Amino acid sequence: MVFNLLKNLFRKKRDRQANDIKEPLLKTSREEFEGSLSIISGTLPTDLHGAFQVSFPVGSVNSGGLPFPEKKSNGHHNPEYGSPIMNGDGFVIQIDFNSSPSPKVKTKLMKTPCYYADEATKAGTKHHELMGFHNMGITRMSMVLGGRNQLNTATQPVKFKNQKNGSLLATYDVGRPYVIDPKTLELVTPIGRASEWMTAQPPMVPWPFGLIQTSAHPVFDPNTQELFTVNYSKNKASYTHLEQSIHHLKHNRALFKSKLEDLATELVDHHDTEHVKRKVNDFFHRLNDHVDGKQHDPDEPKGDVFLNLLLWKGEGPLTSWTLSDQHGSKLAIYECMHQMGMTQDYILLTDCSFKFALDMLFDNPFPESKLIERLIRRLATVRMEPFTTTYVIRRRELHPGGGTAIAYRLDKPIPLETIHYSCNYSNPNGIITLLGIHNAATCIAEWVRTFDKRALDGKPVDPDYYSLFAVGSMDISRIGKWKIDAENLRLLEDKSTVYGDAGKYNQENLGPNTWAISLYGYRDILSADKPVNEIKQLWYLTDGTTKNLLTQFVYNLYKNYPHRKISTDLIKKLTKKELPFGMTRLNVDTMQPEEYFQFDRNVFPRGVHFISKKNPTPNVLPELDGYLVCPVQVGKSTTTPTAYSSEFWVFDAQNISKGPICRLSHPKIKFAFTLHTSWIPEANPSDQEFIIPVKSDYDEVLKNLELGIDRKFLEEFFEKNVYPHFN
Ligand SMILES: [Fe+2]
Repeated sequence: MVFNLLKNLFRKKRDRQANDIKEPLLKTSREEFEGSLSIISGTLPTDLHGAFQVSFPVGSVNSGGLPFPEKKSNGHHNPEYGSPIMNGDGFVIQIDFNSSPSPKVKTKLMKTPCYYADEATKAGTKHHELMGFHNMGITRMSMVLGGRNQLNTATQPVKFKNQKNGSLLATYDVGRPYVIDPKTLELVTPIGRASEWMTAQPPMVPWPFGLIQTSAHPVFDPNTQELFTVNYSKNKASYTHLEQSIHHLKHNRALFKSKLEDLATELVDHHDTEHVKRKVNDFFHRLNDHVDGKQHDPDEPKGDVFLNLLLWKGEGPLTSWTLSDQHGSKLAIYECMHQMGMTQDYILLTDCSFKFALDMLFDNPFPESKLIERLIRRLATVRMEPFTTTYVIRRRELHPGGGTAIAYRLDKPIPLETIHYSCNYSNPNGIITLLGIHNAATCIAEWVRTFDKRALDGKPVDPDYYSLFAVGSMDISRIGKWKIDAENLRLLEDKSTVYGDAGKYNQENLGPNTWAISLYGYRDILSADKPVNEIKQLWYLTDGTTKNLLTQFVYNLYKNYPHRKISTDLIKKLTKKELPFGMTRLNVDTMQPEEYFQFDRNVFPRGVHFISKKNPTPNVLPELDGYLVCPVQVGKSTTTPTAYSSEFWVFDAQNISKGPICRLSHPKIKFAFTLHTSWIPEANPSDQEFIIPVKSDYDEVLKNLELGIDRKFLEEFFEKNVYPHFN
């Protein structure tokens, strides 16, 4: 009763404060600064300690943050307009709770060598025409320089042998991870020399910034102080005549675009998808006939499919094992390896439901043409497989010097699609426990396009939502606790539990539910100091339903979803109602929810991280003894349109339902959609000693490329524009 009264008072106050200011939902700053957070409400617990990080993309060198503007400064159409927000430079906010009297905040762009190349060739510079990077759907590419490594997805603590302080990693699905300094957030060293990684572009494409496909969530073992990751190429059957396309994009772009646009005009609304597929396939197959100019050599060597497991111990070269399954077959990755898993004795690899892989390069080769974008999306978008193929590597079988190793395919896949998951470190009797977040009927590589219509009423999507993940719920998400017999390679379905709940959707307070689960946290998640033997309590965020994120396109893609729990009629009804965001605590032992907090309208929690108390509280279970810190986008009014403030909310992990106990902010912090979070006990300087110098790394890359007459030009470009930024 009292709670409701307070809540209504708060809501009215918000609405009074809102005045008429409106700002874009995606408004995001990329300004680097240092400052102190202010407390907006509540009291900061004195035993909240350590340094907390959150990563997210913040647009391009041209965009000045987010959203991508519709027009360039000269008034012309901006081809970056409507790009997915995932395509953006990485940005890290760090909050140091150890500083008093108020927590310090620091923000930093992840400035990789390719970032400086992007700056040097951006719109308005002399090299832009020839070498500039362009947003091509989910990746940012230059046909001369290659792909951007945006390091925008996650930070992850690591502490290698003989290190006292350790470091953070910054990660991305298509690029080498980098070690960053926890004190300054500056890049320290890439992991592995460029020449140690295999690239996924065709071998004859001489890009200094090769496309390196890896996992945005590599795994670090605090006991053995080893970091494992992967380097892979996707199953090549999923490419659309990649070699020829790259060739003509580079050499005959204008003609290629005009021919493809003619084809799109003819086909984009054609009723017969098979006919469209045939015609487009034929076009790409015979690109040399369609596009005049310098012809592509069809005998160019083609790249091979590969999947390597990589190990790094903080110094020296990477150790690499080429993986095959137990029958000697090469592993073909159809989707991506966004997440990996680790236990005491095993490493888990999965084909995750997130199409962040190289075929996405061509989901938008001519970003300025909406017609081509519509045609390609119609053909290139595939439903996520409604299951997760899972492989187990036995760590004891990894030969210390590298070589080959077996990734054992389980007898059956996990029968739901998965983006993120975590494993108990303990694996008693060879039984692995994998806790999977199953974003049913969702692909976060889909984004809301400028031409999208809402499934609900066929109206155009509100432009505020352009670029966002098109994750309008097409069913409830689920959380699975899967048991895997790693020695007998069996998924033990009868010993596994799946939780999913639509909540009390007819009431104002939904209660625990699983509508559009985004991120989650638990005690010591990602700790570089101690492994989590058993995950006991899990807090996860739910994003409810959003009218403008359920596009007709996504609706059609997943209306026949095979694991459907909620009818499409009810989905539409509840999407119209717009279910709110929430945070639920799940008891992992019972797989039942135990606590819930519902966020107000226009209040969007974007992440959740558990931070344990500095000193244990007597009689409190360790897994509950801490705080949850959430980056939250807070609408200044409960009704839209509105302006937003970017805040950090602190919850007492033992009592989330009473709401945040402290809210913090800084006027210069402005975020909309954030990605992963991490935490370290102290933001001390990195004691990483093994460092790969950028100049020797890229000199070696340039030396080994088939560059011909471009060599001298590129060497000079790197000398002038890239190397001076690094010691
Ligand atoms: Fe992720």
